[in-house]
Amino acid sequence: MATNEAGEILYEGKAKQVFATDDPQVLLHRYKDDATAYNAAKRGSWEGKGRTNAMMSAAIFKYLEEHGVPTHFISQEDETSITTKNLQMLPVEVVVRNVAAGSLSRLIGIEEGTPLSAPIVELCLKSDELGDPMLTHAHFRELGVPEDDLMFCEELGLRVNELLTSFFDEKGIILVDFKIEVGRDPGGELMLADEISPDTCRFWDKETGEKLDKDRFRRDMGGVEEAYAEMLRRVTG
Ligand code: TMP
Repeated sequence: MATNEAGEILYEGKAKQVFATDDPQVLLHRYKDDATAYNAAKRGSWEGKGRTNAMMSAAIFKYLEEHGVPTHFISQEDETSITTKNLQMLPVEVVVRNVAAGSLSRLIGIEEGTPLSAPIVELCLKSDELGDPMLTHAHFRELGVPEDDLMFCEELGLRVNELLTSFFDEKGIILVDFKIEVGRDPGGELMLADEISPDTCRFWDKETGEKLDKDRFRRDMGGVEEAYAEMLRRVTG
């Protein structure tokens, strides 16, 4: 049941809107059916995207909380909206990979689909202007991001990967890679934020290898609406 009314809009991107609520510590995120890729060079929209992203994020944040991972999630308000804690976000995108795909295949020249010998964690700067470059700890230090925060990001990424790899495996899905973000609450605690959805993860069917994520849109493969619906069905039953 909705408990938080959407107030002033604080942010509007292609894929979501973020609203203030009557509690300054609580934000309302509304997921939209619109999408961009390649730093907004490619645009599109399909029915059910916002619903999948909101409902899958809610289900996965709940699962992670139950397994001891602190997250920003508070509640699901309706089919396309969740409320979260209002965090100070780190300027970091944490990417964790189990199988070579996308930019990793291009970076180190290994074929998409090659399993990695151990998970790889990458830390990227959250900057549309710079194209979210992958940085070293030393680069982040120059930008004022403390080493302890980077270590937290890496450890959180690996813990989330462990939990979600088995969560999705039970649903017949290979978790190829994913991106998460981290924020700090007013008490100073760091926690998982943003979303976990087919926009921010690569999901491949374990039996057929079929892609069930945003790569269908990025690569003009067709069937994107069906893929998002299938992922929601597998996660929420
Ligand atoms: P990449 O192979 O393009 O670097 O993507 C790695 C993972 O991160 C993939 O699951 C998609 C996700 N991702 C985002 O969520 N946002 C982004 O802006 C990018 C580039 C990737």
